[in-house]
Amino acid sequence: MAEPRKPVSAPAFWDGLYAEHQDGWELGEAAPSLRAWLAAGQTFTHAGASPMSRPPHIAVPGCGRGHDARLLARHGYAVTGFDFADAAIAEARGLAATERLAVAFEQRDIFTLGPDYAERFDAVWEYTCFCAIDPDRRAEYAQVLQAILRPGGILLACFYPLREGTDGPPFPVSREGIATVLEPCFRIVEAGEPPASPERRRNLEWFVTAERRAS
Ligand SMILES: C[S@@+](CC[C@H](N)C(=O)[O-])C[C@H]1O[C@@H](n2cnc3c(N)ncnc32)[C@H](O)[C@@H]1O
Repeated sequence: MAEPRKPVSAPAFWDGLYAEHQDGWELGEAAPSLRAWLAAGQTFTHAGASPMSRPPHIAVPGCGRGHDARLLARHGYAVTGFDFADAAIAEARGLAATERLAVAFEQRDIFTLGPDYAERFDAVWEYTCFCAIDPDRRAEYAQVLQAILRPGGILLACFYPLREGTDGPPFPVSREGIATVLEPCFRIVEAGEPPASPERRRNLEWFVTAERRAS
């Protein structure tokens, strides 16, 4: 019989993993795919009625210790990382302070962002949050990302892990399943192999650029 799904919608579950050093997802550095994408000279641009007086604003949901958020800040973007785990946000803030980087980290359930952050971001960077949430909430997650993006905003995502099964986290993903979930809220512009992957995640990742649909 299948095991009951772990209580991934509760911050206490993730706080427990951080406290017990069960953070097997931790790379200790930014996602190789994002690093390679930026190193190749790719950029995020302003979307919709974004204030041009400041850099494009990027949201990083489920940011963990904030390695990707800090990398984006080092590239000159205004960045807000969201995570509902105490340890994640405390460590993310500490690491950013050590590097003297201005990154906003907010302790927050991402499913509550819609009303407060409506059309506030030019882009979202998604890595290992989609596979961390309850798979039954993936359509809701896509709706939240659509809500917080400005019209024409971009979702850049590296989805993981491409494998069969139902157990998690990380809960398995498939290209078809992702496309189906994104379809009502986003138009996939480009999808394929990521420009780089961690050794142990090679051939298990799918790199997607998608544009927010008008809501
Ligand atoms: C697998 S970890 C990945 C962390 C980070 N993206 C990384 O690659 O190191 C998933 C993170 O998402 C956070 N998370 C899961 N569900 C969340 C939710 N509903 N709201 C906010 N954070 C959430 C967890 O606390 C955890 O830090």
